[in-house]
Amino acid sequence: MLTPETSDNGKRKSLHGHWSSRMAFILAVTGSAVGLGNIWKFPYIAGQNGGGAFVLVYLLCVFLIGMPVMMSEILIGRRGRRNPVATMALLGKEEGSSSHWKWVGSLGVLAGVLILSYYSVIGGWTLAYVFKSVSGTFTGASATAVGAEFSSFTSSWWKLALCHTFFMGLTVFVVARGVERGLEKAVRFMVPALLLLMFTLLGYSINSGHFGSGVAFMFSADFDALTWDSVLAAMGQAFFTLSVGMGAIMAYGAYLPEETSITGASAAVVIADTGIAILAGLVIFPLVFANGLDPADGPGLVFVTLPLAFGHMTGGTFFATLFFVLLTFAAWTSALGLVEPAVAWCVEHFKRSRAEAAVIVGSVIWVLGFATVFSFNAISGVTFFRGTLFDNIDYLTSNVMLPLSGLLITIFAAWVMCRNSTSEELGGAGTGYRVWRFLARFVAPVAILFVFLKAIGVLPEMSGG
Ligand code: TRP
Repeated sequence: MLTPETSDNGKRKSLHGHWSSRMAFILAVTGSAVGLGNIWKFPYIAGQNGGGAFVLVYLLCVFLIGMPVMMSEILIGRRGRRNPVATMALLGKEEGSSSHWKWVGSLGVLAGVLILSYYSVIGGWTLAYVFKSVSGTFTGASATAVGAEFSSFTSSWWKLALCHTFFMGLTVFVVARGVERGLEKAVRFMVPALLLLMFTLLGYSINSGHFGSGVAFMFSADFDALTWDSVLAAMGQAFFTLSVGMGAIMAYGAYLPEETSITGASAAVVIADTGIAILAGLVIFPLVFANGLDPADGPGLVFVTLPLAFGHMTGGTFFATLFFVLLTFAAWTSALGLVEPAVAWCVEHFKRSRAEAAVIVGSVIWVLGFATVFSFNAISGVTFFRGTLFDNIDYLTSNVMLPLSGLLITIFAAWVMCRNSTSEELGGAGTGYRVWRFLARFVAPVAILFVFLKAIGVLPEMSGG
């Protein structure tokens, strides 16, 4: 295994290079966080779980669990400066525990591979919708026609396979070139443009005449209808949307310059990410109600509501195209974060070049992606446990693997690492540090365990609960 070199001041350096600035790091993490999770997944999961109460629990999870986990990941990553598996092994020993902590890193690498296997298929949908939009497919189309377009597309396995292949190709291409060249620039353009467009759509949504019912659906919380299963889904979504719980942020943290404030960077990312998800909900739900659609409709929600709205707008073809291009960008920058742990591990462990590692890891993920491709057509009738094979991969990764490895990462940072190490990384023992330590030691682990055990039915019902 390669060993990170040590610089003049005795600090470790990453083998893969470093971000050119604090801004580059924030953009890269924001690029990984803002993706299909915010615009595709959040609205449909919120819809399936009844809206209001789910959204509130989601927000609590983001700030009380997601953010401390994110800070833990960055600080571990920067201290170890290797791929997540090697970093956990190294710090495990260095902090007087054991190198078996590497298994937590491995769990994360595996989660990333599994998530990308379906993420890439949905990324392929966004690519296909760019072409559908340009060719004016949605101009003046009715709700039925837009819905039929979506089902006929997803029922064709070879179309999904083709788009999945393209999307995976794009991902491997950038990862092979290294992250600094090109990616930073793409994100710098992508995030502001996406925000601008979402605000434009918000204007349209407000004028749809159903803005009130959309807002009510998202923010009027009916806790009686909330099940522990929905609470787990909200927690899983918080992990998913922030990209935490699988070592991706740890891998990005390994390339972070010494002097950058971890707390500040995390806060910026969390706020941007949450803002975009809420904005997406405010755009989507009024359109759902204005067109008599069902908020619990599932993965097709954005691919039906938005084309429908664009189809009835002046300049709709242009805006639809722009929107799906930006969504493709958002998915693309997230996909890079999803493979980075596996690629960095491959480079260090098998002493491969970045390009070789990217192609090997990419091929494995490409093959796994067919499980999702077929879940929408050939084997869509085969359902078990949570639904189709795709539903189960999603459930296993978001609701089980991410919270579980997030829990272990946080326990490692807050209980195993010594106070000196963590306070050094988080810039001294001020109030921010104490808040992080309290959340990471007590609040996050207890909450994760509790929700988890409740949802799988291990903890008994309490009276009134
Ligand atoms: N946060 C991404 C999104 O919302 C998805 C994601 C989950 C991710 N885990 C990740 C991206 C790890 C990069 C790295 O779409």
